[in-house]
Amino acid sequence: MDAIRIQGGVPLNGTIVIGGAKNAALPLMAAGLLTSEPLTLTNMPELADIATMGNLLRQLGVRIDQSALEAGADSAEAGATGRTMTLRTEKVASVTAPYDLVRRMRASVLVLGPLVARHGEAKVSLPGGCAIGTRPVDLHLKALEALGAKIELKQGYVHATVPKRLKGAQIIFPKVTVGGTENILMAASLAEGETIIENAAREPEIGNLADCLNAMGANITGMGSGTLHIKGVERLHAARVPVIPDRIETGTYAIAAAITRGSLTLKGTRYDLLKSVFDSMVQAGVEITQQGDSIIVSAKNGLKGVDIMTEPYPGFPTDMQAQWMALMSTADGASMITETIFENRFMHVPELTRFGADVNVHGTSAIVRGKGNHLSGAPVMATDLRASVSLVLAGLAASGETLVNRVYHLDRGYERLEQKLEACGARIERVGGG
Ligand code: EPZ
Repeated sequence: MDAIRIQGGVPLNGTIVIGGAKNAALPLMAAGLLTSEPLTLTNMPELADIATMGNLLRQLGVRIDQSALEAGADSAEAGATGRTMTLRTEKVASVTAPYDLVRRMRASVLVLGPLVARHGEAKVSLPGGCAIGTRPVDLHLKALEALGAKIELKQGYVHATVPKRLKGAQIIFPKVTVGGTENILMAASLAEGETIIENAAREPEIGNLADCLNAMGANITGMGSGTLHIKGVERLHAARVPVIPDRIETGTYAIAAAITRGSLTLKGTRYDLLKSVFDSMVQAGVEITQQGDSIIVSAKNGLKGVDIMTEPYPGFPTDMQAQWMALMSTADGASMITETIFENRFMHVPELTRFGADVNVHGTSAIVRGKGNHLSGAPVMATDLRASVSLVLAGLAASGETLVNRVYHLDRGYERLEQKLEACGARIERVGGG
């Protein structure tokens, strides 16, 4: 198994091009199931999760054509990105998302809504637990039932059927769910009549999906608010839609600049996608400036500890919590980090303490006692994508050598991570057999 080796303590300087958002691209790909006409997605990232979703969709009968880098993306630039993918589902060939794929990538459940809406049937494996919590899909299922689907749970699979067409309904999510909102948005677009989703997720990836569905002929309003109105249509058609920039990749490299006390220009991204994180960074003493589609992040020693609490968008994203903890462990002073979205998302804590970080977990909160830039490198390993990258960040700041094991987690969500960092001065390499 590959590992990443870092010789830390080098301030990063340079430019990193931000790719398309994994968590926007995955539901957009699932939306390809909703029409027999081609759906073309631009600014697609190249990631393991995108390949996994591609494999699943091919099994369901989707033809996928991919282009190389788009014109305009300068491949000489660090981290050039932006592929085009065309999905075409002339006929649904299978309605089954097997355990093996769903277990590996929970976003596979996003085929449920589109399959039931277009084909009247879906068999999707229940995902089971994962490294960050139990993560059930009960809210997806209840909402689909409200739209008229019959749901049966058998042998670890959800079997959803609808005799004719789904029917619009009022859905009130008792808890904000990103994937649940996405599944219902897609299903309701082809339902008969109007659906209203209350307490809908407001993440920018939801807006990207709603814009895509509207470009395909759907009738969705209320994007960015907690209430979405969807007037169902009989069929959807071809469209060409850009994937929004990856706000978590943006935030991760912003922390890379800050934690190494360097300066990075993050290109091809948007400040508004990550305002809560940038606000906290500014409070900590990090300098952030916007310049067109670039954000410049610079930091010096003497950062302050800043408390954060993860919340649904526009709050501080849970997907930035581990990276924030790495940064705070190099601040001068204490900070409290509270996780409210997932029940088990402090798995990086024992690994961060191996760098010398002083972190204590009390229930859903962690107290980080920052002692300035004092981390020292260590061999570590992580259990999920964002935890892994927080260890890379700590390794970039730490003196001496760090070896991050289980690199496959990183490949799920960060495109050419080592190359992008190396181009900015990091001493980082992938090595075999960690
Ligand atoms: C999405 O997961 C993201 N994944 C996650 O990113 C992200 O952490 C999460 O949203 C929160 O922002 C994708 O977009 C592919 P939820 P999702 O449904 O949709 C509970 C990453 O690192 N819940 O908003 O699965 C659930 O257990 C990943 O890129 C139910 O109880 O998240 C959690 O506590 C990790 N029942 C909370 O709601 C349900 O039916 C929010 O989950 C559904 C969810």
